Parts: sequence; C-alpha cells; structure tokens
Amino acid sequence: MKDKFGKSKSVSDALDSRMTCRAFLDTEIKKDIIFDILNKARRSPSGGNLQPWRVWVVSGDPLRKFKDDIKGKASENPRGEGTEYKIYPPNLKNPYEQRRRDVGEAMYGVLDISRENKIGRIQQFMKNFEFFGAPVALFFAIDRNMQEGQWSDLGMFIQSIMLLARESGLHTAPQEAWAIWHKSVGEFLEIPDDLMLFCGMGLGYADPTNPINAFRSEREDVDKFTKFIGL
Ligand SMILES: Cc1cc2nc3c(=O)[nH]c(=O)nc-3n(C[C@H](O)[C@H](O)[C@H](O)COP(=O)(O)O)c2cc1C
Repeated sequence: MKDKFGKSKSVSDALDSRMTCRAFLDTEIKKDIIFDILNKARRSPSGGNLQPWRVWVVSGDPLRKFKDDIKGKASENPRGEGTEYKIYPPNLKNPYEQRRRDVGEAMYGVLDISRENKIGRIQQFMKNFEFFGAPVALFFAIDRNMQEGQWSDLGMFIQSIMLLARESGLHTAPQEAWAIWHKSVGEFLEIPDDLMLFCGMGLGYADPTNPINAFRSEREDVDKFTKFIGL
C-alpha cells in the first residue's frame, strides 16, 4: 500500500490513500496542476452527458480575504445563512445516524476533544471555514433545475477530482459545511442565480505531522451492502 502522503500510482492506491484531509500545509500549488486535474476529471461520466458541474478555484489574496470575511460573519452568526438543500434527511434513521455519530466521535477522539468540550468541537468545526489551512479552495455548483441523477453525476465528478489529486500527491477535503454560507459564497464568486452551491473543497498537501490526518474512518464490509446473485 502506498504511504497516504505520497503520490498514488494506481486507482486502488488513490482510493485507499484518499481521506478527508483536515490539516493542510500552506505550500502553494501551481495553476497548471489544478488545471490538469480538472482537465482529466471532465472525462467523468454523466447521464445523457449533461456534465452538470460548475467549478470555481480560488487561492492567494482573494481566498485570504474571503476567509477573513467569513470569520467575521461567523463570530456574530456561527450558524451561517441556513442551507438551500438538506445536507442530511430530516430524522436521519439508522444505520446512517449511528455511522454519522460514530465517525464524529472517532474523529474527536483522535483530537482528544471530549463530548463535553462543546467549545473545542465548535472550534474544530470552524476550521472548515479556513479550508483546514488548504492553499486552494474549490467550490462546486449545479443548476437548480437538475434532479437526483445529476447531483449523483456531480458527485462522480468530485470523486474524480479527489482521486486525481492523489496522483499528484495532493489531498482534498470535500466540505458540505460551506452550504451554510451559500449567500456569501454566491456573492463572492458571483454565482449566477440559476445555480446552487453544493459544496466547497480544500486542496493541498497534507500536513503529515498533524494527528488528525492519521484518522481513518470505518467502512462496512462488502457483504453488508451487496447481494451477489448468480455468482
Ligand atoms: C460531499 C461531501 C461533503 C463533506 N462535507 C464535510 C464537511 O463539511 N466537513 C468535514 O469535516 N468533512 C466533510 N466530509 C467528509 C466526510 O465526513 C468523510 O468523507 C467521511 O467521514 C469518510 O471519511 P474519509 O473521507 O476520511 O474517508 C464530506 C464528504 C463528502 C463526500
């Protein structure tokens, strides 16, 4: 298996070493590298070849200024602006709710932030809005007319980006958390009204010294979610 901080040489390596990176180095990334990732990711499939993805890539001073802006707003209104889509279904049922809780507890466990330490948990959540220190931010939007199938296409496109990032030795942090700042993001990026922000994503080199990057989330066994018929 490839060291998860090195470059992936195969799809299996990329899948295995991808994780949500929650601590990035500030090492800058050249536009060529990001362009190349997007240029390859555009080969992702989509039903009817609709290619229903729109992407913004932000770095440098504009990103610093935007993060400062959000920091100021979040200090007055930590809940943000509300979301335009439901991040999870209401009354999330099991086993999904349990998995969501388990991954949260496991992650805070690695960071030694107890359940009682509400401030510690909020502080950790707020790191979303610094893109966990990533030097590059991506935002993904989709036309409001699009249906479940196209949202799934967008997800495949985003996964392609995450795997291609591994091939360049980069890591990613997909972030639905940005949905709570959809108005501010929309104004900043001048997202046309007919598009809806789905998520943000931090892109950069992982900080190998930060314990959060050693965290590995659990997965169900294949037999738990698959029925093989006729083989
Ligand atoms: C579309 C999407 C949005 C996500 N949003 C966030 C987020 O806002 N903040 C965060 O810390 N993790 C976020 N995650 C990461 C998930 O929590 C993570 O993928 C899951 O726990 C599995 O862990 P892994 O990515 O490290 O394998 C998101 C993942 C996806 C696919």
